[in-house]
Amino acid sequence: MPIPFATVIDLQAALNKDRIDGKKIGFVPTMGALHAGHLSLIARAAEENDVVVCSIFVNPTQFNNASDLEKYPRMPDADIHLLKQAGCDYAFLPSVDEIYPNGKQLLDIDFGALEKVMEGEFRPGHFKGMATVVNRLFEIVNPEKAYFGKKDFQQLAIVKNMVKQLRLPVNVIGCDTLRQDDGLAMSSRNMLLTPPQRKAAPLIYKGMMTAQEFIPFHTVEAVKELVIRYIQQSPLLKVEYFEIVNPETLQPIQNWSECKEVQACIAVLTEGPRLIDNVTYFTI
Ligand code: PAJ
Repeated sequence: MPIPFATVIDLQAALNKDRIDGKKIGFVPTMGALHAGHLSLIARAAEENDVVVCSIFVNPTQFNNASDLEKYPRMPDADIHLLKQAGCDYAFLPSVDEIYPNGKQLLDIDFGALEKVMEGEFRPGHFKGMATVVNRLFEIVNPEKAYFGKKDFQQLAIVKNMVKQLRLPVNVIGCDTLRQDDGLAMSSRNMLLTPPQRKAAPLIYKGMMTAQEFIPFHTVEAVKELVIRYIQQSPLLKVEYFEIVNPETLQPIQNWSECKEVQACIAVLTEGPRLIDNVTYFTI
């Protein structure tokens, strides 16, 4: 069973002892409602470190929509049970006061163009809140390595950028996206889909994957239109954005010749949860 901690002081006491014993600490931050995607990050952390910490904290400052925060699934008992099987040593489940003892002040850091596109454009303030909590969690846990999913491609880019700008002593590791058998990217929000929405949702990944064979015989714009039309064949799915971007700068490309590898990133609205996903295309 992972040891559960609710306070910074107790978690740090355990971690200080581990550090004195020369143990390497790996960290996986999450918002809980754990699924196999989260567990794959924990399993990787367990392979590469002596002690694995997983935080479960639904961070209020990264939600730009009150009902999304309210509806976000919370199931700490089931989560702790899953953590046990995955090889987690310490589960950190702090209160809001523990994370924000001086009020919810946001980190003052400029991510430039990285935070102006896609999720940054459609979820204003989301990345400032996310970076604030990740920075605070890094300060508390002080891990050698921290594990993030490529499922949240822009989040991973922003965390790496924050670590660089603030010169934090942590190695950020990106991990592959785990999917259901029908291709739908695993997500805590999937459990909020109605059965018909769940049935339609695999069109997102399928639509993005069909595009690969059209490159480079169609323009970037034409491929984007094709994918959007494919996904919107279901009246239950509405594409909020679909961008094909340079994986380093996250800026949309105009021509396939700009990069050998590009990232296609999507957000889809349902009448329930909003879903995001991304895939890599090879342009040559
Ligand atoms: P959450 O959505 O719970 O995700 C926690 C971590 O699991 C993130 O790094 C995310 O990219 C990864 N993840 C989610 N779905 C995945 C999948 N299908 N395959 C592989 N990895 C997956 O992302 C957050 O929480 C929060 O923003 C957080 C970083 C914890 C800050 O509050």
